[in-house]
Formats: sequence, C-alpha cells, structure tokens
Amino acid sequence: MYGNDFPADDTSGGLLGEVEAAETALREAAQRGRHGAAAADPTAYFAEVIAADQKVEPRDWMPEAYRATLIRQIAQHAHSEIIGMQPEGNWITRAPSLKRKAILLAKVQDEAGHGLYLYAAAETLGVSRDELVDLLLAGRQKYSSIFNYPTLTWADMGTIGWLVDGAAIVNQVPLCRCSYGPYARAMIRICKEESFHQRQGYEILHTLAHGTPAQREMAQDSVNRWWYPSLAMFGPPDTDSTHSAQSMAWKIKRFSNDELRQRFVDMCVGQAEVLGLTVPDPGLAWNDERGAYDFTQPDYAELMRVIKGAGPCNRQRMEHRRRAHREGAWVRAAAAAYAAKKEQANKKEKVST
Ligand SMILES: [Fe+2]
Ligand SMILES: [Fe+2]
Repeated sequence: MYGNDFPADDTSGGLLGEVEAAETALREAAQRGRHGAAAADPTAYFAEVIAADQKVEPRDWMPEAYRATLIRQIAQHAHSEIIGMQPEGNWITRAPSLKRKAILLAKVQDEAGHGLYLYAAAETLGVSRDELVDLLLAGRQKYSSIFNYPTLTWADMGTIGWLVDGAAIVNQVPLCRCSYGPYARAMIRICKEESFHQRQGYEILHTLAHGTPAQREMAQDSVNRWWYPSLAMFGPPDTDSTHSAQSMAWKIKRFSNDELRQRFVDMCVGQAEVLGLTVPDPGLAWNDERGAYDFTQPDYAELMRVIKGAGPCNRQRMEHRRRAHREGAWVRAAAAAYAAKKEQANKKEKVST
C-alpha cells in the first residue's frame, strides 16, 4: 500500500490528476491565441489575459507589483528546495540499506533540480540567480520554516516524504495553474516528481510501522514531531495572511492557506489509518456538517518565531549554505571560464568558415 496522494473517491483523479488537467488547460490556452485587447493598452491586455485564464509570459507587460510578488514567491520557493536538501542529506550516509541510500540520494538530488527550475523561472522576471542567492545568504529572503527542524531518526526520512512533501504537493498543485507561464510550467514538472517523494516517504513509514515495536515507536515519534510543523507549512491563518487577496486576484494563488491546510488534513487522516499510526491531535474529529475534519491548529506563534530565525536549526542551515556556497566558488569560476573559452572557440570557428 502506497500513500494515496491520489484518493480513489476523488473524481478528478486526485492530485496528480489535477496536475495533468492543469497541463492540458495550459496547452489549450496557448492554442486559443491571445485575446485581442489592444497591445497599445498593456494594462487592459494584462487584465484580459488573467481573466481568460491564459498565461502571462516574460515578454509581456506586467504590473511591477505582480513581478515583485512573483520574484519573492518563486525565489522563496527555490531557496526552500535547496535548503530542504539539508535535513535529508543528513541521513544519506546512515541509510539502513544500499537501496534506501540510492533512493534517498536520488530524492535529495531531485530537490536540487527543483531549485534549478525555479531559479530559472525567476530569472525570466529580470533578476539573476546570483542576486537571489546573495539575498538568501544575506538573510533578506526566506525559505520554508519547516526545514529549520532537525531530523533525529531514520523515520524522519519517511515522515518528511509523507507529510512535508505531501504538504508541498497540496500547496503546489494549484500553482500548476498560476497565471505566470514559466512558474506554472515549472510547477507541473515539480509536482510530478513530488508525488514520488511522497510515496517513497510513505513506504518507509509503512515498513517501520509494520516492523519491530521499536521501529513502530520510532515512526510514531517522528509523526508526532512533524505533524504540527507540517500544518504550519500552509502559512498563517487567512485572517492574518498579508499577501493572499492580491495574489488571488492575479491568479497566482488559487486557494487560501486555510483551505489548503484543511485539504491536507483530510488527505492525511485516511493515510495515517492505513499506516497504523496516530495523528497526534486529540481534537481531530470528522465534522459531518462541514464534510471535513475538525483539527487543532498549529502554534502560529511558534511559526513566527521560526520564520524570524529562532527555530532549532536556522543558524545551522544558513551556516551550512554559506559554507557550501564559499566552497563551490571555484566550481562556478571554472564553469564560467569554460563557457567563455567555448564561446571564443565558437566565434573563431564561425569566422574561419
Ligand atoms: Fe521539491
Ligand atoms: Fe520533494
């Protein structure tokens, strides 16, 4: 039994079905051609493209605030993918078998790839990857607070895949329909890979939960530690969310933080039952009227503290990233020198032919 990130009772085909549907919609919108509003009036043109569910592309005019919002969001997302390699990278050398090690290595490598797609998407908005990395290293741009928690046991590899990648998918599937073309296309590719991540984590937990009593206990302890931080991944409650309304109007965001959080809880409860593990929330109960689970909210004060830098691993994560950046300087310099040399050689060849 794998994590059913694609629940059978969902006629849309579940989350992965939604990714496929977003991909089809994206192609159809591209074929429809652009709505005819005057290119002379870029504001009206932008509004029409958004209203018609078409994609804003890098060459199009866009409001500066739209551009700035996207840069902030995509950069934060890219940084999260890269910093997010650390908690799991921590266990690669301690994986319990060669097979587990190979899978974890591939998964962590996927996250680096996600970072690259996203930095590339951000670059289409007129910033460079170097600038964004500098902002991260200077502490002026954020990454997801979830990666400031430590990975204490092997079971955390399972829980991160199940809950953290699971929450990431729930957050990101609607972004496959984001109005900015390069971001939407990157998200389609990323979501397909994330759903594998979720499954591999679920499979680790399933194995542990059906293993020895000590393994079971390790799995439950891990879920107990990661449950609320995972719920906090959806951000502050709607009443406190500063960016939501405008992002919704621009069709960058499609659902509110609370809607997505609810969807995640509803998805996880059945999966936890199959795992034979308990969701650590005594307040969890099915609400017939709402057709959804009632649950205890995460501690948002803790979320704000972790965002502001006081989480258990904030310092460690940033120090590691800065060190890796310093130690990688010669690789970047070598790659740039090689590219310059190749360009020269190409030019010479063109001249001589
Ligand atoms: Fe990722
Ligand atoms: Fe992932």
